[in-house]
Amino acid sequence: MLSIIVAIGKNNEIGKKNDLLWNLPADMKHFRDTTRGHTIIMGQKTFESLGIGPDGKLGKTLPNRRNIVLTQDPTFYREGIEIFHSIEELENKLKTENQNEENFVIGGGMIYKLFIDRVDKLYITHVDASFSDAEVYFPIIEETKWQKIRSEKHSKDDLNIYDIEFAEYIKK
Ligand SMILES: NC(=O)c1ccc[n+]([C@@H]2O[C@H](COP(=O)([O-])OP(=O)(O)OC[C@H]3O[C@@H](n4cnc5c(N)ncnc54)[C@H](OP(=O)(O)O)[C@@H]3O)[C@@H](O)[C@H]2O)c1
Repeated sequence: MLSIIVAIGKNNEIGKKNDLLWNLPADMKHFRDTTRGHTIIMGQKTFESLGIGPDGKLGKTLPNRRNIVLTQDPTFYREGIEIFHSIEELENKLKTENQNEENFVIGGGMIYKLFIDRVDKLYITHVDASFSDAEVYFPIIEETKWQKIRSEKHSKDDLNIYDIEFAEYIKK
């Protein structure tokens, strides 16, 4: 099973300058708790956005998860990640594995666009704010295609400066 996990602003904005638009520890915890022990799939840019690895190069693995990175660069290599060069190559590999296992597409913009019609479930953190400086966006979540099955709202606090909603959608 393939799912997407993402945090989006009111206009579906997700990032700028290869970074997030907010610092929301509650959402980071939600992300860690949801994906821990699972496979995470990301684009090369999102991998680089996670920090500097032990080799001193941009790109850091997230612990306690199997890290998969998509890149079209045939020379790209980093310790601790599995690399795939096309969606088809990745899908063929996942087909040989346990189909009950939940795998998470974790971004960014290019990768979400490629996968939104291929996943079964969306974990969306709705951030109740707009960001006019955003550069990267999540696709429109079409009401005709997706049914919201869970909603958990959290009011802003000292550490999390925006109201957020943890929502889950399944394909109709
Ligand atoms: N709000 C959130 O929840 C969230 C989550 C994740 C990321 N983000 C943000 O999203 C932004 C990054 O998104 P992005 O769109 O710039 O980059 P991205 O989707 O993370 O990565 C794009 C890269 O993926 C590789 N790629 C794309 N299509 C491919 C394909 N068909 N086959 C193989 N590889 C492929 C290419 O790597 P090569 O160039 O190496 O070929 C491409 O440059 C950042 O600002 C980040 O902070 C936000």
